[in-house]
Formats: sequence, C-alpha cells, structure tokens
Amino acid sequence: MHDLQSLIVGLLCYPLLSLRLNVLTGIRAQSTATTSPAINKSTQEAKKTLRKGNVVITGASSGLGLATAKVLAENGKWHVIMACRDFLKAEKAAKSAGMAKENYSIMHLDLASLDSVRQFVKNFRQLGVPLDTLVCNAAVYFPTASEPTYTADGFEMSVGVNHLGHFLLARELLEDMKQSDYPSQRLIIVGSITGNTNTLAGNIPPKANLGDLRGLAGGLNETTGSSMIDGGKFDGAKAYKDSKVCNMLMMQEFHRRYHEETGITFSSLYPGCIATTGLFREHIGLFRTLFPPFQKYITKGYVSEEEAGNRLAQVVSDPSLTKSGVYWSWNKNSASFENELSQEASDAEKAKKVWDMTEKLLGLA
Ligand SMILES: NC(=O)c1ccc[n+]([C@@H]2O[C@H](COP(=O)([O-])OP(=O)(O)OC[C@H]3O[C@@H](n4cnc5c(N)ncnc54)[C@H](OP(=O)(O)O)[C@@H]3O)[C@@H](O)[C@H]2O)c1
Repeated sequence: MHDLQSLIVGLLCYPLLSLRLNVLTGIRAQSTATTSPAINKSTQEAKKTLRKGNVVITGASSGLGLATAKVLAENGKWHVIMACRDFLKAEKAAKSAGMAKENYSIMHLDLASLDSVRQFVKNFRQLGVPLDTLVCNAAVYFPTASEPTYTADGFEMSVGVNHLGHFLLARELLEDMKQSDYPSQRLIIVGSITGNTNTLAGNIPPKANLGDLRGLAGGLNETTGSSMIDGGKFDGAKAYKDSKVCNMLMMQEFHRRYHEETGITFSSLYPGCIATTGLFREHIGLFRTLFPPFQKYITKGYVSEEEAGNRLAQVVSDPSLTKSGVYWSWNKNSASFENELSQEASDAEKAKKVWDMTEKLLGLA
C-alpha cells in the first residue's frame, strides 16, 4: 500500500522528482566542493542562491493562482508546485497557459478535507525537496447560497476551505520552510478588500464581522451551534468576508509568533478586483455579465488576471517586498504600498483568540 502510494505520488510529481535529483546533485557537488581549499565560503554562498526556489501555490488551477504560477514558472527562478483539488483541470490550465513542463508540478490538495491537507504535507515531504515559499490562495465564495454546505470535517465550507484548511497547511509547512536555505522564505495568505470595513467595498452589506467568535468556538456547524463565526444566521457572502478577515488576522499572528525566530516573511495582499475569475461562478448570471464592465468603467477598480498575477508574484519574489506583517496593495500606477487594515482585521487580541480556537478545532492544541 505504501509503495503504491509512493508510486502514485511519484507519477503525479515527475517534474518534482527530477527537480529533487537536481537538488541532490547540487548538494553532492557542494559537499565535494567543501573539501577543496580552492572554494571559499562566499563561492559556496553564491552557489546556494543559484538553485530555483520552490513555491507551493494553492488553487493554482484558475484565476489569480494560475496567473501567478505562470509568471513565476516563466521567470526561470521558480519551480511552482500547483496544489489543486482537480488534477486534470490544473494540468489543462497549466498547458493552456503555456507553462513549460519542467517549471511546474501538480499535487493533489483538497482544502475541504483535513485528511487531504495532512496527506499533501506527507506527499510533499516524501519528495525531499526544500520548501521556500507557500502561497495560500485558494478560496470559495457562495454569495447566493441560502443554506450552508460543509467540509468533510463538518465545518461551514467558506471558512473551512479559506481559513481552516489553509491554517493547517501553513502550520504544518512552516516546519519545512524553517529548513529552507533559500535567501528569503515567505508565507503569503491572500486577503481581500471585502473583509476590510475601512473601505467602500468593505462597507457593502453584509459586512464582515467575527463578533465574539461564538460560532467558531462551537465548531461552525448548525448541529452544534452556528455555521457563522459570529454565531448568526448563515449568509454565504458574509461567510466569505469573515474568512478573509481570518486570513488577514492569521498572517499577522504568524508574523508575531514566528518572524523574529525564523526570519520568514509573512504577508497578505489585496490584488485588486479581478472581476473575471471563477470566484464569482456561484453568482447569478446577470451579476457575472455586469460585474466586469462595472468594475472596469465605473469603479475603475478592475485588474486583469495577468496584472493580479504579476502583483502576487512580486509578493513571492520581489527583493523589495520582504517586510513581514504587511498587507500589500497597489495604486493606480500599479505601484505597491503597505495598506491599512480595518480595526477588526488588525485586532491583535482577536487574532490570538482566532488562532487559539482554530488550533483547538483542528486538534493542534
Ligand atoms: N477575484 C477577485 O476579485 C479577488 C479579489 C480579492 C481577493 N481575491 C482572492 O484571490 C484568491 C483567488 O481567487 P480567484 O479570484 O482567482 O478565484 P478562482 O479563479 O475561483 O480560484 C480559486 C481557486 O481555489 C481553488 N479551490 C477552491 N476550493 C478548493 C479546495 N477545496 N481545495 C483546493 N483548492 C480549492 C479552485 O479550484 P478549482 O479550479 O478546482 O475550482 C481555484 O483554483 C482567493 O483567495 C480570493 O479570495 C480575489
């Protein structure tokens, strides 16, 4: 059984296995070099920085994740591990984006199942390659749903996928990132303007509000309490916004707990309104038709998937974006700046409570 599992992982991750060989060859070459007096320390340091970085991007089968994967795969400095729930969809997407085979691998990850998250971590470790950057990008959004749906573990789906699945993944893979010898390690959690009530977009009802977290404490399930974090009645649009507040709070809490000790950069971002992505697939048809032109010509907040991909790729690899604990945004000239989060999305006390409750729910505490 174990061998069969290894074989499947091996087949799905062929490009990564060849990458592993490259890494191993690199290490062997380096250790031979250390015995030679002609090679000094700075040459070895320079050699270290020559290898490609390995970045895991969740939800890289469409939209922002795919656009980012394409930018990074094409710039020659990264091997992209596309962590996706639909292997074939991801393969087709990578091919149609024109990504060269040797620059990416696809690994199965369903964030709606904690078992799948744990299996992904195991599979990744079996490959024996270093992890340099993790991008928590995947998300679901059910703006018109009147009833909640649930993850395999019985958590409301939006918070379950967007926050809980990512939290477990990030907590586990942090250990792997600590081992990385890459010049910069980054953990990025994609945020959103819609969770920030200090903006116009964040003030469109229903507004994000985690309340006193009683629903989260109760397990995000109507059988044991409420499917909403604040304990209220289910609202799909609000559940998404609440999950994004959790994403932004967790990025800051990771920063407070781990930045000094590990040197890892923790960041979040609002990539702009990418009105054409699959995120709006559950919305009514009229909304999907009108939303892109509305954003393009009325609010002028629209950004193309390509531009948004460039932005997230900057947060992954731009040497000027290494400051930790930052929520990045871009101005009209596409220049990045450190944006301000809403009061709730920057509430350190709430962040700690969400962290502690999430750990409990996931059996980590
Ligand atoms: N679009 C915007 O205007 C906007 C604005 C601000 C922030 N964002 C954020 O940007 C990120 C990407 O969204 P997007 O607009 O690019 O939407 P998208 O095209 O729908 O991409 C979402 C990705 O998440 C994946 N996903 C969904 N459920 C999953 C699960 N259970 N396990 C693993 N992967 C799963 C999807 O996989 P499938 O392909 O299999 O469905 C897809 O690849 C999200 O975090 C979103 O909150 C978007």
